[in-house]
Amino acid sequence: MPEFATLFRRCAVLMLEAQERISYQPQDLIAGRLVPRVHTQWMALAPHLGEAIALEAAEIDALARCSSSQWLPVHELGIAAETIDALCAKGLLLTQQPGDAAAQRDDILRGMHWKGLSAVAHLFSRWRGVDARAAERHLAAQGMALPADTPPPSVEASAVAPALALPQPADSALEQLLLARTTCRNYADAPLRADQLGHVLQRSFGARASGAFAAGLTLLKKGVPSAGGLHPVEALLLLRKVDGLACGLYRYHPVEHTLLLQQTLPQSEADALALRFVAGQEYFAGAPVLLALTARFQRNFWKYREHAKAWRAVILDAGHLSQTLYLAATELQLGAFITAAVNEADIEQAFGLDPLQHGVIAVCGCGIPARPDEVEFDPLGRAAGRPPSPA
Ligand SMILES: Cc1cc2nc3c(=O)[nH]c(=O)nc-3n(C[C@H](O)[C@H](O)[C@H](O)COP(=O)(O)O)c2cc1C
Repeated sequence: MPEFATLFRRCAVLMLEAQERISYQPQDLIAGRLVPRVHTQWMALAPHLGEAIALEAAEIDALARCSSSQWLPVHELGIAAETIDALCAKGLLLTQQPGDAAAQRDDILRGMHWKGLSAVAHLFSRWRGVDARAAERHLAAQGMALPADTPPPSVEASAVAPALALPQPADSALEQLLLARTTCRNYADAPLRADQLGHVLQRSFGARASGAFAAGLTLLKKGVPSAGGLHPVEALLLLRKVDGLACGLYRYHPVEHTLLLQQTLPQSEADALALRFVAGQEYFAGAPVLLALTARFQRNFWKYREHAKAWRAVILDAGHLSQTLYLAATELQLGAFITAAVNEADIEQAFGLDPLQHGVIAVCGCGIPARPDEVEFDPLGRAAGRPPSPA
């Protein structure tokens, strides 16, 4: 129990989720009755902790008596000592004591200027050690690869007639590039050349210019747009096979156009890590280069403080970057991919990232395409350098 004189405050961001469990009593089943018993468990979603914490009703009531901004003494809170203890142990009630690890995490969160709802969405949608392919195979074995109900139409039928025909644009280099762009799920077991890697990185992540916009604020000019010109999303690379470069983890410097080695890895470790990054999708793990698109949230939130749209803007940046990476790879007849089915927590661990400050948004990759033996969506038969897939 913290001392009587200790001051307490609630963590900065706390949301409650009602998780429902349904159970059936054996006596009901024996009697042939299917009576569902509903149990609601309230879970605390507090981003500074990063994992959901089960709460009792008395603890919810106690948290409501506390302030998240004011440090208050225990006698002003009117909370039972054991409830104070329980909430401190759960990291939801904080003290100013130097060893309070939850309070330290909470201080980092406060300093980041997260919008609370966005912080919850970001921290609680991360995976660790998920094998998405195993889950897919399990569903397929049960004949449930796709949901059984009818999918929405590819395009909504028009409610008003007649439709107004628009002129078709003339063919162009951009149109040809867009036609050739495709997600590649088949990579040759061949290294990428350093010049190919440099091309793809410069085209997508590289800054064309940088300049002081205001005192202390340097903006970057890239080939992609970014909210406020801040460009918080960067490329952290896992190089499996690149000529002349050691296998390992790197960071791309978008202004200097350099790679910064974080850690070399034995080939077997890099291969295993690649598979973990992309949640068991072996067809992506075979790419010689994987890039984790990671956001330095503070770069955006410094300007857009507690802003309802800030997190969304950062995610959009990753979309621009990945499409440009696809096009840059296609320009060289390389294959490229993006996946959102990634183990963010494993990527954070590999690169030493704190998810409150650095967010993994997606993983991209590129490499020499191989003949398709894995299903690809290529109805135009334009996959770079390859014959059309049989499907
Ligand atoms: C945000 C995002 C996430 C994706 N995640 C996956 C994924 O987890 N696994 C995968 O095989 N493809 C993934 N894809 C690729 C899509 O499946 C692909 O774009 C789609 O099938 C259309 O094919 P195309 O890119 O060749 O036109 C993703 C694409 C996007 C934009």
